[in-house]
Amino acid sequence: MNEQDCVITSAPGKMIILGEHSVVYGKPAVALAIDRRFYCKVQRSQDFVVNGYRAMAGSHPHIRSILHDNRAGNITVSAVTDIPTSSGLGSSAALSSSIALAVRRLFERDVTEEAIANDAFNAEWFAQGRASPIDTSTCTHGRGVAINNPVDMGKALWKISKGGNTWNVTDIDVPDMTFVVGYTGIYAPTGPIVEKVRKFKERNGFAKDIIDEMGLIALLGLNAIRRGDKEDLGEIMTRNHKLLSILGVSCKELNKLVNASLPHSYGAKLTGSGGGGSMIALTDEPEAVCEAIRLHGGTPIVVHTETEGVRVENNVPNNGTFPLEL
Ligand code: MEV
Repeated sequence: MNEQDCVITSAPGKMIILGEHSVVYGKPAVALAIDRRFYCKVQRSQDFVVNGYRAMAGSHPHIRSILHDNRAGNITVSAVTDIPTSSGLGSSAALSSSIALAVRRLFERDVTEEAIANDAFNAEWFAQGRASPIDTSTCTHGRGVAINNPVDMGKALWKISKGGNTWNVTDIDVPDMTFVVGYTGIYAPTGPIVEKVRKFKERNGFAKDIIDEMGLIALLGLNAIRRGDKEDLGEIMTRNHKLLSILGVSCKELNKLVNASLPHSYGAKLTGSGGGGSMIALTDEPEAVCEAIRLHGGTPIVVHTETEGVRVENNVPNNGTFPLEL
């Protein structure tokens, strides 16, 4: 096969440190890329095929959106990942970024990070109904990403506007801090939870106040990251979790893992859309937090921050023996 006909790419997952849900309404937020990746091998083909099966009409909305935006032909995709699906750790954003890079290379489109971040964001919007670019920008760029951060802290990356909101995306230095992820094992797709928050906000002024407050504390958290102040950041993360609970996006399993982690951490909160999925704890005692998570029915996932965003690969690791996730 000719090199132009087949491309292998990958993109990292992410964890949101502060500001999920409020970021959908243009409030500040911060996320870090993690060292779990989504890999895909993409070839031009006659039919649209995903992991050996011809795609059904309306299936794989993220990939369809990317093909449409790039006026691309059909592709065959083989994908593997070690990011659990719908876990709050960015599996769909990493899928979107890696497919966008592959499609852009195959069909000879612009391959700047900004173009890929835009494709991936449009894909999330199309699939979710409403979205912010925090997940897709982090999975595309890697490192740390802040949204609408007025503190002059990092390099401006790109600006994305849609649905009446504007998100200014900046790079931030990855803080020298340890986070432990606790996975509830509960499958929690983002779209319905984002929709639930939208309805709550539409009906109830109180929801808008909570969202405004989450935006304010995200700014305080960004300042704490800049100062390297773990105590302050941890306290803000726990406050953010309480606000997310009031907003109705936590669940008893997440609350249990957050409460179990707190005695061994600076702070803890759900990460991503909630409703299941994962929580994170900021800690200097990762083993104690892992044990507390295990004892309370969760799965600790040891993650490290990742500096590399979306990239071209020579091959898929482990011969593609990770569980297939699409
Ligand atoms: C999901 O990882 C983060 C949300 O804020 C949705 C989004 O920003 O698109 C819940």
